[in-house]
Order: sequence, then C-alpha cells, then structure tokens
Amino acid sequence: MQVDHIGYVVKSIEKSVMEFEKLGYAKNSDFFIDENRNVKIQFIKNNETVVELIEPMNENADAYAYYKKINNGPYHICYKVKDIDNSIKQFVRDGYLLVKEKEKAIAFDNKCVAFLFKNAIGLIELVEE
Ligand code: NI
Repeated sequence: MQVDHIGYVVKSIEKSVMEFEKLGYAKNSDFFIDENRNVKIQFIKNNETVVELIEPMNENADAYAYYKKINNGPYHICYKVKDIDNSIKQFVRDGYLLVKEKEKAIAFDNKCVAFLFKNAIGLIELVEE
C-alpha cells in the first residue's frame, strides 16, 4: 500500500518544525486548526517523505492519549486507498478494530479518513484518494 504520510504527535508544532527544518524538511501545507478533532496540524516534507505534525489542543483530542504515552513521536502511518468503505471492511475482516469511523478531514481537503488498530502493528490511518 502506498504511504501518504507519517503522523507525529507533538507538544508544539512551532518548536518541532524548527527541528525538522534542520533535518531537511520544509512546510508542505497550510497550518490547520481542526476544531472538531481539537488538534492543530502542519504537514512537512523531506523528499518523498511527508510527516503530519499533530498538536493536541486539549485532552479531548484523540492524539492526546498518544502524547501522554510516547511524548513527541510517530504514532500512525497513513495509507492511500481508492475506496475507503471497501478497505475498512477488508481490514476489519482481517482483525483490525475500527477505532475512528470514516469522516471528512479539513486537513485533507475534506477527503475521508478513518483509523484502525491491530495489536501487532498499532494504529493505521486510511485516506481516500
Ligand atoms: Ni494522519
């Protein structure tokens, strides 16, 4: 499956962007405030690698639980899919738990995303192209 991005939870997008820039990343999107998810988002890119920086705005953000667990760091890989409903069905059949139903995401031009979890691999995200 083709990777869309790696999701990184961070305490401060501003601070982490400064560090990622030293590693060769540059901003690759607008700066988003997603009030529905209680997160701020900035995409950055280094050659073909896209990283999504996610800053929880409060404890209601899904990413906040990961921040508590791992501090700053990667917590999901997002894969591109053609038909998100069909892909979700396949993953669930394969033993994944659908932890976040598909919904439109402001940071993806309102394309649909969904999150699934399996113990052996952790959290994955699907984005419909
Ligand atoms: Ni993501």
